[in-house]
Amino acid sequence: MFEQVNIEREVFGNGENLLMRGNVMALPPEFRNLAGKAQCVYLDPPFMTGEKFMRRRPYGEAGWKTGTPAPRYPAYEDRYTSEKEYLRLLRRLVGASRDLLQETGVFYLHLDWRMAAPARIMCDKVFGKTRFLNEIIWTYESGGRSRRYFSRKHDVILLYAKSQKYFFDLTRVPLLRGDKRRNHMARGVDEQGRMFSRITSNGKEYRYYDDEPVYPSDVWTDIGYLQQRDPERTGYATQKPLKLLERLLLPVTNPGDLVADLCCGSGTTMEAAGQLGCRFAGMDVNPEAVAVTANRLKPENLTVICPTGKGKAELLTGEEEGRFEMGGLEMEHPAFPAKANPADNLESWEIGRIEDGVFRVEQSFRRSFRYPELVRSLKMDPQAVKAIMTTDAAGIRRAWQRTGEA
Ligand SMILES: C[S@@+](CC[C@H](N)C(=O)[O-])C[C@H]1O[C@@H](n2cnc3c(N)ncnc32)[C@H](O)[C@@H]1O
Repeated sequence: MFEQVNIEREVFGNGENLLMRGNVMALPPEFRNLAGKAQCVYLDPPFMTGEKFMRRRPYGEAGWKTGTPAPRYPAYEDRYTSEKEYLRLLRRLVGASRDLLQETGVFYLHLDWRMAAPARIMCDKVFGKTRFLNEIIWTYESGGRSRRYFSRKHDVILLYAKSQKYFFDLTRVPLLRGDKRRNHMARGVDEQGRMFSRITSNGKEYRYYDDEPVYPSDVWTDIGYLQQRDPERTGYATQKPLKLLERLLLPVTNPGDLVADLCCGSGTTMEAAGQLGCRFAGMDVNPEAVAVTANRLKPENLTVICPTGKGKAELLTGEEEGRFEMGGLEMEHPAFPAKANPADNLESWEIGRIEDGVFRVEQSFRRSFRYPELVRSLKMDPQAVKAIMTTDAAGIRRAWQRTGEA
């Protein structure tokens, strides 16, 4: 039999990367200890939209296979009593981000038309005007269009350096020039058969080869917003595309560098940083964001700090011919389908051991769009399973310990 226990900390592998629940208004010591160590901080805070965001989470095997059912759950509120209250949060975020950076580091602040202007003035004060490098305009096609003014279809990403020693290598993000005709330029082909566009100015010919890389400037039109059925989508509202984070991180980091995000949401920054071989530290005030990010990241080399949830649930386990069987969670939730199947109530589970209040993960099983079926039978001595961590279909994590009773 297993009983529910409270766990604050879960460790995968050597636990080097960090994901935690935390509020930037009271920066946790784990982040204070990282002062001066990050090469890049990316911030995508609430935009002061006044909205209450919901999240869609696939439910059970059918949900992960076909997209339905996918009930909605509250995600986070982007509501502030006043602009002053919002700017207090932003000031804390910008200040904490600067503190995290090492001398070669850079800072990205992702906002939209609502707060980009006061944020620019604030960042000029915190970083110094001379540390402003640029603002990137990321344009996309999504949602409705206005008839009363030109539609607002871009975000603003402010870019600041911690010091003049900042690292930036634009050659890491080449774009292919391609064979798009530009400005009625003449086309040509050279002796090696390479195609180019050409223009003559003051008697001199300038050639632009199709196969030559060009480098992005500050208006990005080639990265789309995530579509509803994009396999990358976690269902977390305001999730940013991995491609965007890759372009932001690649020129400013090297493998092994630390990347931090104090409002990590669904963990896009963390996933992109991991793919580039960087270390990462992510935080969010919303425990659901931590659950989504934890299930999205590779189950290795990660420490997750977030108190496990309570709530009525019964863990169903069994044994059969030397196998440990996971039956699922017997529980009710208003968003789950009626007559829910205990196996479908489970989104992921882990086996491990609890040492000094820390859950050390030994094996991890989770659903994904690629593998919607959850592993539920393990060929091992069932008595060797001492502790289990579960995440239910609503994103609540729970820890369980063997009691000794049969
Ligand atoms: C725009 S979302 C981030 C989305 C993320 N970039 C992604 O790709 O999924 C902003 C996040 O800031 C978090 N947040 C709001 N206030 C916070 C605070 N005081 N401390 C830490 N996180 C906060 C919200 O919970 C939300 O997940």
